[in-house]
Amino acid sequence: MEPFPTRILVVSGAQEGSALSRTMKTICDEITRLGSVPVFVSNWHDAYAELKETIDISAILVDWDQDYVRCKDAMKKYIMPRHAQIFDHKVLVLPASQRDPFCGSKSPLMKLEAEGYNLVVPRSYPQEKIDQLQNVPSYDELLNFLEKEKLKVVPSPLNVIRSFKSINRKVLIFLYTEKLVVERLPIQVLESIQAYIWKNEETPHFVAKRIVASSYEYVEDILPPFFKALVKYVHKGKYSWHCPGHMGGVAFLRSPPGKFFFDFFGENMLAADLCNAVGELGGLLNHFGPIGDAEKYASKVFGSEYTYFVMNGTSTANKMVFQGTAVAGDVIVLDRNSHKSSMQAIMLGNYKPIYVTPVRNKYGIIGPIPFSEFNVDSLYKKAQKLPYMSSADIQNDIKLLVLTQCTYDGICYNVAKVLSKLQELDTKNMLFDEAWFPYAHFHPFYASYHSMNKSYFDKLEEDSLFHGSAYIEEDSEDEEIHRGPTPSAYKGTIFATQSTHKVLAALSQGSMVHVRNSPDPFHFDRFNTYFQANTTTSPQYSLIASLDMSSAIMDVSGESILDDVLKEVISFRCAMARVKVEFKESEEGWFFGCWQPKDILSGKKNIYDTSYWVLPPSGPDAWHGFPNIGKNQYLLDPLKVNLLTVDEEAGVEIPACVVVKFLAMNGIIMEKMGYYTMLSLFSIGSRRGKSATLVTALTQFKKLYDSNTQLKYVFTQEKNLEFGNVGLKDFCEMMNPEIKRMQEMENEVYSGKLPEVACIPFKASCALVDNNVEWVPVEQLTGRTSALLVVNYPPGIPTVMPGEVFDKIHTDLMVALAHFGEKWPGYEFEVHGLVCKNGKYYIPCLKQ
Ligand SMILES: Cc1ncc(COP(=O)(O)O)c(C=O)c1O
Repeated sequence: MEPFPTRILVVSGAQEGSALSRTMKTICDEITRLGSVPVFVSNWHDAYAELKETIDISAILVDWDQDYVRCKDAMKKYIMPRHAQIFDHKVLVLPASQRDPFCGSKSPLMKLEAEGYNLVVPRSYPQEKIDQLQNVPSYDELLNFLEKEKLKVVPSPLNVIRSFKSINRKVLIFLYTEKLVVERLPIQVLESIQAYIWKNEETPHFVAKRIVASSYEYVEDILPPFFKALVKYVHKGKYSWHCPGHMGGVAFLRSPPGKFFFDFFGENMLAADLCNAVGELGGLLNHFGPIGDAEKYASKVFGSEYTYFVMNGTSTANKMVFQGTAVAGDVIVLDRNSHKSSMQAIMLGNYKPIYVTPVRNKYGIIGPIPFSEFNVDSLYKKAQKLPYMSSADIQNDIKLLVLTQCTYDGICYNVAKVLSKLQELDTKNMLFDEAWFPYAHFHPFYASYHSMNKSYFDKLEEDSLFHGSAYIEEDSEDEEIHRGPTPSAYKGTIFATQSTHKVLAALSQGSMVHVRNSPDPFHFDRFNTYFQANTTTSPQYSLIASLDMSSAIMDVSGESILDDVLKEVISFRCAMARVKVEFKESEEGWFFGCWQPKDILSGKKNIYDTSYWVLPPSGPDAWHGFPNIGKNQYLLDPLKVNLLTVDEEAGVEIPACVVVKFLAMNGIIMEKMGYYTMLSLFSIGSRRGKSATLVTALTQFKKLYDSNTQLKYVFTQEKNLEFGNVGLKDFCEMMNPEIKRMQEMENEVYSGKLPEVACIPFKASCALVDNNVEWVPVEQLTGRTSALLVVNYPPGIPTVMPGEVFDKIHTDLMVALAHFGEKWPGYEFEVHGLVCKNGKYYIPCLKQ
């Protein structure tokens, strides 16, 4: 497809510096003549690396016989003659139980397989020996075993293909051989290759033509529908008589500052900024044409039955779901620590909320909601205390239940367990706010812990080439961990709102609402009314294209990308733990910690397995420190790394805000911080260098702290630095008492005892609109009813809802937060809802 040229990876077998075979050279010359670019590597190990590095490879032409010779060199004595494999021997295939999700080192045999070799045994080889082989404890012992038994390995076409396809499941593979016998190729190989080219039977020109033509079809195939249509449209160079007013960027070129804008963003981006007047690109509001196709494609890729593209982030996606499922006066049960968009939806929609409250640990990390909270009696008791709840309401259905599926701190619910609880509650609709979790669908690691996993099971059945099915263990306990909910577990409609932009490759604000149907069928057009009510009539086409592209990326390479990121984050976590151990064992004592299981370095458990990251039941030894946790209920997503700025054993406590500031000055920006925690997020854009830099920066901080270096030498770039002559360690110790006090207050505020409720949130917010409020100084808040939503950062979750009454602890916390920056300039906390006038802080409250 124009304008994208295609690149063909040629695995030639030729050693570096040596010539290609004559036929191969002619094929490659023909490929170039036909407009594609051949890229040469000598063997498939290098091909794998090249494919990973330069992802724009459309097709791979493997000279299998040449490569076989190379592998023979590499593996020397273990290679056997090919005819022996065919007539007298069989290839030993690894049993599913020996595989692990990361192609890691679970079994030595698997390592051999992961390196691309198959073990071959004589047909008469005894079963006990095969069993012995499969249980050899180390790779070295395996090689010894092979030598002793005179067993051989062969490079496996299936493995070669599997390794290519794990990076790009759609890449085209052409096997070029005269040695591989087609009847002997496993069916998965035959299914996965584009063509099997028997050497010297076709002309080089014909072979090249086939490869190049297929590579253009490949581009058509991998590009998602809307992006493809947009590119084609833009390349037609049409005159626009419609908005946006810059008309393909031309308006920017009419004035000098505009030219800078044009040059910075580039012509394509501006030419692709179109509007709904371009009928051939379809429409977002009515989901037709290429935009509608893109949504359908996303639905297939993300495992939903319906998907809507949302332009204003999950903040808007959440409001759509509230409005599309409940009307004024309906009862909604929601996580008290829901994102403020859900709280705003409650306020705007005049809904009657009942909150379920998560647990917290001593670091102030917010945990999950105990399953005991999803209980009719418990909800009933809560409802009875709410002034806006009548006895009829209490008997009524719960229209919507809202959970944060994967909190900021990485806590995820076992979906099957949640759904079975919901069945008891007879809840009509379930919203999983998966703002931080859109990647979960793409790796079996998360199978039980995200809501849209129906198609995951479809995929397992149809696609045995990939290793997904291999690690659903037989043992029923584990099965519960590994399997997702059965589709029939819950009878209501399930919504997932996802900020595609937050953790996948979409532009900011690009979110999706995914829906899974219920026996009471979801009505696409009915819901669309609320979708439209919350959607601009001028959507950003680049944003739509980026959502479409996110689907394609995850479709083609999702699992392998996540494999990489999971490996990367686990290695980062191990590195942090190792550095800490090393410091502890040396004179230098302390280091930052990671909030994670304590035995990560013990080597006793498979740290790549989901079960390792499942929160153990509460108890004095449970590393998470949360109360009320049962077995197999929640997972810690390893990708959300909470770093602890305390080392309890060494007695070191450093306010996180100081470390965060130091890191920012060194170009490392953390996602959020608590009082003694800071969060670093791994996403599909994370790279190895980034985590190494973070560890290095933390060790540098430690050095400065240990030597009590004066702040002016720590924060060198800061002008007008206060406390410049104070040592870093002394400074942290000076700040600690206040930080600790705030942490204590906050722990009390979020302890589960919610503020008294004076009225329904809607009524309080109406008072604000009608100016029926008083601006109350923060010091005098106790006993007053808030007219708005108060959210303090950290932790960035609502503290007081409109209609709730400030008690003394809230007042004290607000006062401390408001004035903190006066004493500690440069460390101001943010409180949404607090207004500063002439140095005094106010919150609007209902008139008394
Ligand atoms: C749990 C949760 N839901 C929703 C949102 C809102 O997402 P967006 O920024 O895409 O509007 C956020 C944002 O941080 C969030 O944390």
